[in-house]
Amino acid sequence: MTKIFYLIVITGLLIGCNPKETNIDPNSERELNPPEYFGSYSNRIPDDNPITRKGFELGRMLFYEKKLSGDNSMSCASCHQQKKAFTDGLATSPGIDGVNGKVSSMSLVNLMWAEHFTWNGKFEQIESQSIEPIRNPIEMHESFDHAIQELEEEGYTTLFQEAFNAEEITEDLIGKALAQFQRSLISSNSKYDQYLRGEYEPSPSEKRGERLFFTHPIPGQLRGGNCGDCHLGPLTSGAIDGFQGFHNNGLDTDENIDEGLMAVTGDPKDKGRFKTPSLRNIALTAPYMHDGRFETLEEVIEHYDNGIHQSSTLDILIIEGSNENQDAGERPRLFLTEQEKEDIIAFLHMLTDEDFISNPDFSNPFENENN
Ligand code: HEC
Ligand code: HEC
Repeated sequence: MTKIFYLIVITGLLIGCNPKETNIDPNSERELNPPEYFGSYSNRIPDDNPITRKGFELGRMLFYEKKLSGDNSMSCASCHQQKKAFTDGLATSPGIDGVNGKVSSMSLVNLMWAEHFTWNGKFEQIESQSIEPIRNPIEMHESFDHAIQELEEEGYTTLFQEAFNAEEITEDLIGKALAQFQRSLISSNSKYDQYLRGEYEPSPSEKRGERLFFTHPIPGQLRGGNCGDCHLGPLTSGAIDGFQGFHNNGLDTDENIDEGLMAVTGDPKDKGRFKTPSLRNIALTAPYMHDGRFETLEEVIEHYDNGIHQSSTLDILIIEGSNENQDAGERPRLFLTEQEKEDIIAFLHMLTDEDFISNPDFSNPFENENN
């Protein structure tokens, strides 16, 4: 009954708050308004799953719904917490049975501009990715038959009817609603965005940091941090062209390197290549890397500056990115000054978006129920 009550409240809000919207079809598209510099997104939303108000609200409820886990103790939001830009602050996360996965929870941000999901890219669609943790024995460990039965008991059938014009709740529709919510998680009001819009004047250090971040160094001519070679443009995430956004950023040697993308493609050239994550809100999402090995941004910068491990698949952009001339075969180093490291970190802090982590549209709709 509680969920039905919520539906009435939400519908009331949609109609009540804004008199202009009284006649708007509840299935009308939900406005997203991302900045133009993120690139077009019209072709990034699947034709069979447009983002509607009802679908978004249902997806939001499911995202926070503990009934989707085997013992009703965990929801997606247990490992993807809004205050932490939808990560959980842990190196690896325990599922309902207390077993930890091998990789770190990922920040969910601007997912519309990504083509492959998870650290090794095993999912092509947010829809299919969203179903997986529910069934996964080391995550929410729930069967769909049982989850659907519980959702029916909670009164969700009406919500699925309204959102998808569907007779019954299905696994496929759960994935679709969750995907609509997650595609809407757009972060675009950081200081960096305000600066791009001409609303914020960066400090000298932030300005230098931005330039270093996006500059590929040329020894003796141009100093750079080389970050933007892989963390591209204002989104600071990897290329969305196939697996081009997957790189080996020198975390390990051939002896101890994780499989990474090779687990998906079977190609040894892909060993140790991982998805280049967006650095938006990065100051809020420690620890860092797919296994959460670095506690701080300082450690991350030390890694890129003087901690790169050689391996057969180490990325050419790392090998060729240095502020000093290096002999072939030498361990690649950036040779940044202490000031330059501080400046890059100042720029990374500019990517924090307080509005995103406190946006009431993305928060737990059951908060008052202590759910
Ligand atoms: C037990 C913790 C846990 C729970 C619960 C959980 N996740 Fe995750 N999530 C992770 C981890 C860990 C990864 C990285 C997985 C990998 O690389 O194999 C991840 C990755 C993702 C990604 C990929 C992001 C990207 O940029 O590629 C999405 C999307 C996602 N989760 C959505 C969800 C949804 C939706 C739910 C609820 C149905 C959920 N997660 C529940 C821990 C969790
Ligand atoms: C060759 C491409 C490449 C370059 C150059 C590069 N990165 Fe990365 N970055 C990656 C990849 C790939 C990952 C994920 C690696 C993993 O976890 O296995 C990553 C991860 C990170 C993370 C952790 C993100 C998280 O969510 O845990 C941070 C922070 C980061 N990079 C910052 C930087 C900075 C700062 C620079 C420049 C000094 C830089 N990167 C240069 C590809 C690159």
